[in-house]
Amino acid sequence: MRILNFGSLNLDYVYEVDHFVAPGETLAVNSQILSPGGKGLNQSIALAKAGMDVFHAGCVGAGGEMLVGILNETGVNTDLIRTVPVLQGNAVIQVNSAGENSILLYGGSNHAVTKEQITETLSHFSRGDALLLQNEMNLLPEMISCAYEKGLQIFFNAAPCSEDAKKADLSKIRWLIVNEIEMQQLTGQETPEKAWTLLHGKYPELSLLVTLGSEGSAAFSGSETVFMPAFPVRAVDTTGAGDTFTGYFITALMENLPIKECLRRASMASAIAVTRLGAAKSIPERNVVLAALKL
Ligand code: RIB
Repeated sequence: MRILNFGSLNLDYVYEVDHFVAPGETLAVNSQILSPGGKGLNQSIALAKAGMDVFHAGCVGAGGEMLVGILNETGVNTDLIRTVPVLQGNAVIQVNSAGENSILLYGGSNHAVTKEQITETLSHFSRGDALLLQNEMNLLPEMISCAYEKGLQIFFNAAPCSEDAKKADLSKIRWLIVNEIEMQQLTGQETPEKAWTLLHGKYPELSLLVTLGSEGSAAFSGSETVFMPAFPVRAVDTTGAGDTFTGYFITALMENLPIKECLRRASMASAIAVTRLGAAKSIPERNVVLAALKL
């Protein structure tokens, strides 16, 4: 099975700080790096490193060449990425001494997708293929409808959560992927179990993956419920940990592994990622993840 990731590509300007800058404060940073990022790009790299055959579609603008370059180096097919006369999408990321992040996002080129591009891109895919989406692109409802009509299996990571994400037609989605905050924003429910009861009642075909940070993760599919604790590590930078989890989880699912094993692999991959600085650059290779799991 092939997977198309119609997703964002960002230049991440990452600043290591002692604490997040406060209103009115000017704060000197400890270090600065420019790193490839964007939930879309990170997830394509995680899928490819986990072993999937990945096609990335989207738009880059001025300054985005290095993003296409890193996807190519990782083995992701980039033929469906267009160059547009718009400023490259980017993120300004503060990472504090606890490894937590605070992110400002500029959509730029990621919001330049056209309906024609969606139709043309999806014309290369058919029933049996999968589509992965996040919420950093424009025209999300059009992507979902077009892919659903073609019979693609759709994975939707509703991140970052917004009014647009809430408008996504979940009856057309196979797997909804959220963290705890996005789960609360989307469903109004405080626990994964309550969110699942609500969603499963409304959308019987939908499955749900909730990442819970240091508390682990939970997956719900049909009558199956699996909880997985997180592997304890000292976090350096949690940016991209959810993207790593998503890529490894989907790949393991596509390999028809039991859900428990999918969660275990994804948990180990994201545990390794948080011990490294940066988003895409922190995503571990498959052999590193399997070795850590003694597989
Ligand atoms: O999920 C992490 C990503 O969110 C960063 O790479 C940044 O670009 C933002 O999109």
